[in-house]
Amino acid sequence: MSGRELGFIHRFVPGTRLGAAPLLLLHGTGGNEDDLLSLGQALAPGVPLLSPRGQVLENGMPRFFRRLAEGVFDLDDLKLRAQQLARFVAEARERYDLADVPPIAVGFSNGANMAAALLLLHPDSLSAGLLFRSMVPLVPDPLPALDDVRVLIAAGRLDPIVTPAQSQALAELLGQAGAEVTLQWSNAGHGLSGDDLESAERWMAVVTAGR
Ligand code: MLT
Repeated sequence: MSGRELGFIHRFVPGTRLGAAPLLLLHGTGGNEDDLLSLGQALAPGVPLLSPRGQVLENGMPRFFRRLAEGVFDLDDLKLRAQQLARFVAEARERYDLADVPPIAVGFSNGANMAAALLLLHPDSLSAGLLFRSMVPLVPDPLPALDDVRVLIAAGRLDPIVTPAQSQALAELLGQAGAEVTLQWSNAGHGLSGDDLESAERWMAVVTAGR
């Protein structure tokens, strides 16, 4: 199913696993709502997939929020876009009759940064987060309570865009908020490697077990 309804161009793929938490797929800069569908299917077969397209255009490339430079974010825009995405998630859950459990976010790069922002600003909108190549998007005051929330940060030791220190800082911040954070390193750059996918599969199997 694809559509422009609910305020976002998006794809929705119904699941076959009754009551399973859907995946919220958030693409990277220049991507779209189709990019992560096959990854989502591979990571959690049979789980419903909800995949919006970011609404900001940077030189024609879709993103989930504005940036002023590489790694320098427009925080007012980020807060507004996170609020809009949280509303989309709530409305989509109702429209598509999705489980009582909020989605598990799966984000890459800019999409992972948006997933982290949702966890920090709208913690009720997600039940877990798989963040590929993510950095600290902002530091809210006060921090949210993320006590039941599992997060996997899949970081690349050689990533020139998200440095190891930035991945570490995000792990610490989410941990301070109470999340159960796994920081997984691969010998890769900003692009994903086989190791990233293997650790993501292992983590996802644990998070979706029994759901
Ligand atoms: C971002 O802008 O969110 C990060 O710098 C990653 C990127 O999209 O290049």
